Amino acid sequence: MAGIVVFGAQWGDEGKGRFVDYLASKADMVVRYQGGNNAGHTVVADGVTYKLRLIPSGILSKGKPCVIANGVVVDLGALKTEIEYLEQRGVSVDNLYISDRAHLIMPYHRALDELNEKKLGDFKIGTTGNGIGPCYMDKTGRVGLRMCDLMDEETFPVKLKKCVEDKNETITKVYGGEPLRYEDILEECRAHARYFKPFVCDTVSLLHEYHEAGKTLLFEGAQGMLLDIDFGTYPYVTSSHPNTGGVGSGAGVGPQVITEVIGVVKAYTTRVGEGPFVTELFDATGDEIRKKGNEFGTVTGRPRRCGWLDLVIVDFAAKTSGITGFALSRMDTLGGFHKVFVCTGYDIDGKIVNTYPASLETLAKAKPAYKEFDGWTSDLSHIRRYEDLPEAARKYVEFIEQHTGVPVKMIGVGAGREECIFRGL
Ligand code: IMO
Ligand code: MG
Repeated sequence: MAGIVVFGAQWGDEGKGRFVDYLASKADMVVRYQGGNNAGHTVVADGVTYKLRLIPSGILSKGKPCVIANGVVVDLGALKTEIEYLEQRGVSVDNLYISDRAHLIMPYHRALDELNEKKLGDFKIGTTGNGIGPCYMDKTGRVGLRMCDLMDEETFPVKLKKCVEDKNETITKVYGGEPLRYEDILEECRAHARYFKPFVCDTVSLLHEYHEAGKTLLFEGAQGMLLDIDFGTYPYVTSSHPNTGGVGSGAGVGPQVITEVIGVVKAYTTRVGEGPFVTELFDATGDEIRKKGNEFGTVTGRPRRCGWLDLVIVDFAAKTSGITGFALSRMDTLGGFHKVFVCTGYDIDGKIVNTYPASLETLAKAKPAYKEFDGWTSDLSHIRRYEDLPEAARKYVEFIEQHTGVPVKMIGVGAGREECIFRGL
């Protein structure tokens, strides 16, 4: 009887998919609890690369029940495309369950996301453009549409009509955009309702059935801690709770269900979109990391901003999410540099600060205080035992542990499913 949470401890794209994929093989059920198709999780399984966005990476473990829980926002078209993508590759989705409480991303959410980013101009968030923010706004504004609404043929058209009318007013009057046609959206929704009917259920009961039967539940987070609506670099964040706190409300379980919290940390730092990034590198080293790590967005193809590992944010993630172990990814990508650096504090107006500031104005003044390490080779993919890692790489790992007080339990040394070192998991 265990509940394991895996989530990103930086700004997303930490390489969560592959660790989830591994842990899923040990779990009885995999649950996504927040976010939507803004996520892009790449998993290489048996030499095949899969790109997933909404469906838990556990789907690649044959026969494993995978749940899209109530905290997720679902774009039905995107989900259907993802299901078809998996089916074309021989992956069955027979064990996929979607919460009847999950909110729907509608075409007007996508339109509003785009229009709002345009309107913000220089102040734009740099969203993925998938309507995530507008959908969560409707959820908290109590005007959203849920899966259970979609499944009710009689009442859905009435609810939808009201929503489309309201949104069209905003789209045309506030943004000067083109109104959307209610009839078109309704037709699309009706087709989706037929398609998704077999998948929709009360996932809360399903989760508790498994939990009470002593099964292991794996909770898969999308995005990352620093994109959390409360603890991230607000307003340059996503609109959900990627952190452990999101599991309770996003899946419908109590805190005692969670027995282990794995924070995925990339050996360096990346970020897409706008917002502060203290250890960002604007020089050739940053370009090299981007090139070596192929740091371009899975979803949008945007080049990711790259920099050294920032332990101020990782430590903040550990504290605010109760991380019990790190999964460290991309140690191979960081290999090959003569020297590597780790940020242990911020110099703000001549004072070293170790806690992550809330204010963007304060963050703008922060200069990284670095500790220097010797580099190691990037050729690590054959290593399976921790002792066999180069000494410099071990020193790097052990420094992260000492600094944060959190053990590093998994270390990624290559993209493949098996290219990983396990320490106590
Ligand atoms: P995975 O799960 C990295 C970022 C966007 C933008 C901000 C808000 O692959 O790690 P949104 O579309 O969510 O309203 O955009 O959040 N963002 C991500 N960055 N990885 C992700 O997911 C992200 N999902 C959203 O770039 O800065
Ligand atoms: Mg991504």
